Amino acid sequence: MLHTRFTETFGVAHPIVQGGMQWVGRAELVAAVAEAGGLGFITALTQPTPEDLRKEIARTRELTDKPFGVNLTILPSINPPPYEEYARVIIDSGVKIVETAGSNPEPFLPAYRAAGIKVLHKCTSVRHALKAQRIGVDGVSIDGFECAGHPGEDDIPGLVLIPAAARELSIPMIASGGIADARGLVAALALGADGVNMGSRFLCTQESAIDQKVKERIVANSERDTKLIFRTMHNTARVADNEVSRKVVEIEKAGGTFDDVRELVSGARGRTVYENGDIDAGIWSVGLCQGLIHDIPSCAELISRMVAEAEELITQRLAAAVVTG
Ligand SMILES: Cc1cc2nc3c(=O)[nH]c(=O)nc-3n(C[C@H](O)[C@H](O)[C@H](O)COP(=O)(O)O)c2cc1C
Repeated sequence: MLHTRFTETFGVAHPIVQGGMQWVGRAELVAAVAEAGGLGFITALTQPTPEDLRKEIARTRELTDKPFGVNLTILPSINPPPYEEYARVIIDSGVKIVETAGSNPEPFLPAYRAAGIKVLHKCTSVRHALKAQRIGVDGVSIDGFECAGHPGEDDIPGLVLIPAAARELSIPMIASGGIADARGLVAALALGADGVNMGSRFLCTQESAIDQKVKERIVANSERDTKLIFRTMHNTARVADNEVSRKVVEIEKAGGTFDDVRELVSGARGRTVYENGDIDAGIWSVGLCQGLIHDIPSCAELISRMVAEAEELITQRLAAAVVTG
């Protein structure tokens, strides 16, 4: 067993988190992670209404009696979803762990705290992690530049970001971005993290409810097969390299604005990729660590393999490297 401040604070067996994933973080995946001793998060906004989220939480409870959480990602938007109503459903459903992301979680903290909910805030910089610590979250999850989705604009990979954060933080910290195997887990612990968060690796498991062709593409892809879009809009997103992401980058380079790419990057198109397996239908998130993904295991196989190999790495290979004299 790998026992850390994270496993202690959040009450799970292993220091492995499945972070929020739009269109992917559903009951089957989250329950499989929970049953395997990790911490899975339902993605609130994948559910079209707060009432649907209530049902998805209930469905997850039918599949597991182990702890799990809900991710509520709050991003600036012209027509924002009813965030307060989603938060109310989380609280009323008795969920005890929330992953906040996308913006400062401060307005929601008093209600979460009053309900006895532990908050894991996901961010992309040391300064935002320190801010989150100051306002009273229970842990932070820090995404390095390698990550799928939004890596921020600082471009600091985990090898520097995680020890820089470890030096300053006192609350439990999870390393996120670029981690897909035991080596990443051990490295994260060595860098000062109390565990790891993985998106791409869980996207490519048996219980992730996306088309098999997307999983096979992830296995076939290398670490070079991602693109950074929205760089010119200071809202960078790391997505799979495909016809659509290449086109978006081309339009941006030619001075295009969001209006020029709006249709290409629509959520509906991206959703089609996951549902129908048409790899070039839209943009879909995946990180650099797809180059480390070579199979499509169950969550139980993945987590037990990572923990066993991490223990072996620490107690055999690394221990053997320490010699006296
Ligand atoms: C398909 C997909 C969808 C994602 N959607 C969200 C989201 O809605 N909210 C969020 O906070 N993070 C989201 N993420 C980011 C992950 O939670 C995680 O931080 C990231 O994947 C870590 O990097 P990795 O892919 O290298 O493991 C998404 C990631 C993927 C792969």
